[in-house]
Amino acid sequence: MPVAIITGASKGLGRALAETLAARGWDLVLDARGAGALKEAAEAVAGHGTRVAALPGDVTDAGHRAELVTAARGLGGVDLLVSNASALGAEPLVRLDELPLAGLRRALEVNVVAALGLVQEALPLLRESAAGAVVAVTSDAGAEAYETWGGYGASKAALDQLAAVLGVEEPGLRVWAVDPGDMATGLYAAAVPDDDGPRPAPESVVPAFLRLLDERPASGRYGAPALVEGR
Ligand SMILES: NC(=O)c1ccc[n+]([C@@H]2O[C@H](COP(=O)([O-])OP(=O)(O)OC[C@H]3O[C@@H](n4cnc5c(N)ncnc54)[C@H](OP(=O)(O)O)[C@@H]3O)[C@@H](O)[C@H]2O)c1
Repeated sequence: MPVAIITGASKGLGRALAETLAARGWDLVLDARGAGALKEAAEAVAGHGTRVAALPGDVTDAGHRAELVTAARGLGGVDLLVSNASALGAEPLVRLDELPLAGLRRALEVNVVAALGLVQEALPLLRESAAGAVVAVTSDAGAEAYETWGGYGASKAALDQLAAVLGVEEPGLRVWAVDPGDMATGLYAAAVPDDDGPRPAPESVVPAFLRLLDERPASGRYGAPALVEGR
């Protein structure tokens, strides 16, 4: 069975992706900080008969990242690494003139530094895979200038560039930065609590990730809505 590590898999997009990959026969290593929600997600995933290692922890903890990769090695290796866990830097989001620098540092630490740290830890196993792939979950806030999304957006822009260079440096892998588009999740509600307009469920963008895995297009940055439409 192929093995995927998915960070931030207790809720939202990470959980939806985990459930779908499990139903497709993937073995999974999942993380999130909150142990209760992670356990619940792991039980739902295990219902598909998959092998799942659910390890509570923070992606900014190097020891935790090493545990994730060790668990994957125990399942047979790493075929897919999904860096999905994310920090906003301020909840709710605020304009740059008010953004606490500690919040910006946290967004960079979670969204950029930890994502690269996990890639570095997993690279030897990814290179051994017949179909190794890295997915960096990004955001249009990394490419467009939206008021109050500056700190988070800067971290996603940095993540995009790491993914782009990794794709060049690792031609044997696929490295996809994927913008899922707006989704009705806890992260969005924390970012903009007053904006309760309708948004797609995270499950609706999972087919975009499946298309990447099935078709293995060139490394690069992809928008989930376009991938889903073309499905
Ligand atoms: N929702 C949107 O509209 C939207 C739009 C564009 C891009 N995105 C991106 O989509 C991805 C998924 O977001 P989502 O909306 O699905 O968020 P979500 O529903 O809030 O889920 C986030 C997950 O990440 C975990 N997490 C957060 N910080 C973590 C950390 N430091 N270490 C380990 N796990 C951590 C959370 O669990 P704990 O809190 O228990 O750790 C949770 O499982 C993110 O990369 C986000 O930037 C979202």
